[in-house]
Amino acid sequence: MFEFPKGFLWGTATAAHQVEGNNISSDWWDWEHRSSHTTEPSMDACNHLYLYEKDIKLMAELGFNTYRFSIEWARIEPEENCYSKVFLNHYKRVIERVIESGLVPCVTLHHFTSPLWASKKGGFVSKEVCERFLKYVDLIGQNYGEILSYVCSINEPNIVAFMGYRMGLFPPGGQSAELRRAATDSFIHCHNKTYEIIKSYNDKALIGLTLSMTDYQPLQGAEDRAKKIATIMEDIYLESIAQNSDFIGVQTYSRDRTPVSGVSVPEAGRAITEMGYEIYPEALLATVKKAASITNLPVIITENGIAPLKDDDAVRIDFIKRALLCLKQLLETVDIRGYIYWSFLDNFEWNLGYRPKFGLVSVDNRDFSRTVKQSGYFLGNIARTNGSEII
Ligand code: BGC
Repeated sequence: MFEFPKGFLWGTATAAHQVEGNNISSDWWDWEHRSSHTTEPSMDACNHLYLYEKDIKLMAELGFNTYRFSIEWARIEPEENCYSKVFLNHYKRVIERVIESGLVPCVTLHHFTSPLWASKKGGFVSKEVCERFLKYVDLIGQNYGEILSYVCSINEPNIVAFMGYRMGLFPPGGQSAELRRAATDSFIHCHNKTYEIIKSYNDKALIGLTLSMTDYQPLQGAEDRAKKIATIMEDIYLESIAQNSDFIGVQTYSRDRTPVSGVSVPEAGRAITEMGYEIYPEALLATVKKAASITNLPVIITENGIAPLKDDDAVRIDFIKRALLCLKQLLETVDIRGYIYWSFLDNFEWNLGYRPKFGLVSVDNRDFSRTVKQSGYFLGNIARTNGSEII
């Protein structure tokens, strides 16, 4: 019978802003209330700020051994150089509760959101903001050093550089190639420094970068274009962080059938997700191989998931099965340490609000009660049996 490697991380993920609620000092809160690109504000989200203990308990009961979540810089430093002891303690308690519940904490230090004051200064293209971010990282190392196991520095810097500095679709709303380049450089710099800082407090903590990765499949004539896009979106990061990382976090959702111009169009007849892209978990085959071969690092799938049309959970279960079959195949040649499903809860999907539902668990928006979907039990059982259950 097939089993995943011993100690394989089976988890689910969330990000602070998407689940906690009332993240009022962040740039995203401000963005949701004034940008024309958003559909609805996050407001109370899933109230995970207050319900985290119940959520962690549920994850453990379902069979998971890992929880990936993020610490909210905007709560720790709501105004420049003013730190909140309450929130420093809060996240310490969250990490401790994860450990007490028998789960491995995988902590992300920056997941799309920054304090509003930092964004107002231009975000990561400002040297001063980078320095303040690294000071926040230092504080995390100082306060939580001993209890950190896996640390993800900056979540999908490639998406933030693109959406927030080139397309004007995420805060700080930048719209130029220069800004995007500058943001890319500083994200890489901040990741590499984060590695040094966290290691100086706990040399056993494993630190990685989590990158959004796509299986680029150029249509005829678009080979050069696809290569160019992949270089800016992926290669540049993979090549520049390998020396200062213990693992590479691969976050894959679909493929990109790159046309000569314009955006990827799903193959005719193929089912799509609520996000508009094709259901294609097999994208993992190409992205994982690429990440491993460029970086020579162990891989953790730090995000992979689906928001099916009409939240059809049978489609989600099928997606997960197909993804895990890819992992089984990949494990023959690649060192993969974990699979973390996005997301634990139906949560705030950025500009798209609450419509797309990625969760294994649904949330009632009146009383915040949780209901586990079949896919939650399904993946939980796989986790409990280390993959032998279905494969
Ligand atoms: C992000 C998540 C997001 C998910 C689904 C990833 O790009 O890290 O915050 O919710 O994809 O779109």
